[in-house]
Amino acid sequence: MTTLADTWGINEAQFWLRGVRPEQPVEHDSAAGIWNVYGYPEILEALSNPGTFSSNTRRLVPEMPGNDEGNLVQMDPPEHHKLRKLVSHAFTPKVVADLEPRIAGLTNELLDAVSDRTELVRDLAYPLPVIVIAELLGVPSSDRGLFKKWVDAMFNSSNQFSIKDRSKEQEEYMAKAMEQIQQLSDYLLEHVKERRRAPREDLLGKLVEAEVDGVRLTDTEVVNFGMVLLIAGHITTTMLLGNTVLCLDAHPEQLAKVRADRSLVPSAIEESLRYFSPFAAVSRATDREVELGGTVIPADQLLLLWIAAANRDPRQFTAPDVFDVCRDPNPQIGFGRGIHFCLGAPLARLEGRVALNILLDRFPNLRTDPAEGPEFIPSPNLTGVSKLLLLLS
Ligand code: HEM
Repeated sequence: MTTLADTWGINEAQFWLRGVRPEQPVEHDSAAGIWNVYGYPEILEALSNPGTFSSNTRRLVPEMPGNDEGNLVQMDPPEHHKLRKLVSHAFTPKVVADLEPRIAGLTNELLDAVSDRTELVRDLAYPLPVIVIAELLGVPSSDRGLFKKWVDAMFNSSNQFSIKDRSKEQEEYMAKAMEQIQQLSDYLLEHVKERRRAPREDLLGKLVEAEVDGVRLTDTEVVNFGMVLLIAGHITTTMLLGNTVLCLDAHPEQLAKVRADRSLVPSAIEESLRYFSPFAAVSRATDREVELGGTVIPADQLLLLWIAAANRDPRQFTAPDVFDVCRDPNPQIGFGRGIHFCLGAPLARLEGRVALNILLDRFPNLRTDPAEGPEFIPSPNLTGVSKLLLLLS
């Protein structure tokens, strides 16, 4: 059977998008030196045991771009707890909720600039979340061309990651990504230093001032956290917006339901996160030998937890390959689970809801352009539209 993933040329490694189930919920890829975990209950088990499944994977892959200091995603308790508490103070539900009018204003402004045909990613899905996160951090959103250059270099490989026998192409890709991360880091450092000289009320300013147990964050910690926010804060939401519009277009009866009852917009977004999870995998390292899904995994192994595959696990979801905007309950894990649950989930959900509602309000005939199909980001670890031509009138 030809699936949408085949029609749209999504990376072939993403077999779960093609109605294929993994042979085992936990598999060892000896060529790459990695354990792949695909099952929903197995992934939940790993995500709820940070003591065994550590987020500090860099100890196994020291040459990975970036560094640990202040990188929330790579931290384990108790350090993770301290930093998360601190940044949660600066990134409260109220801070996010207060952004709604600005998100609506920006969406309308960006859509005012398009005519009767638009490339959704270029015109809305990319700029909207980047401008929002840049304004929140307090860096000029007009620098977004630079952010795009730096971040694109990290995600433009279609090869699967491997910790051994990397090809020349993979080595070059890593080196290029490192170089771009360094530029992003230098850029943010300038902004942090500026705030040390003259305090500001933006998120970077709050982080510079913030204290954990009476100790302030170092420049590197603020820079690294800013980097996590800038990277995580935009490409994922770009994918979410593009994927949601595309999925609705590909399932006209589902789109009709959402048009008829706008209270379904939030659940349509949850279903999009399940059906096409933007962030397909998160990584963990085993701190000790452990049994997972009936398989014994030795200590110090790198695991890829394929949350996108878990979101299609028939043991958890009835008819997992059906896109159903009314799915209830929908315990999708596209934002992860446990102590590292996505800090930006409320912002991503808000941006998705506001932008989708405005698109539906303004364009009753919104549809994909039959002349040109969508394009997807080539990386096997991401599922996201990178180009989506739409007809508006
Ligand atoms: C659709 C959009 C998004 C998706 C699918 C997504 C996905 C995820 C996932 C799966 C994790 C868990 C990582 C792990 O367990 O190792 C995560 C963590 C995180 N996300 Fe998101 N994210 C999105 C949007 C955002 C936004 C908008 C922001 C910030 C403004 C953000 C900031 C973060 C941060 C800081 C973490 C680390 C939390 C921690 O380690 O405690 N994300 N995200």
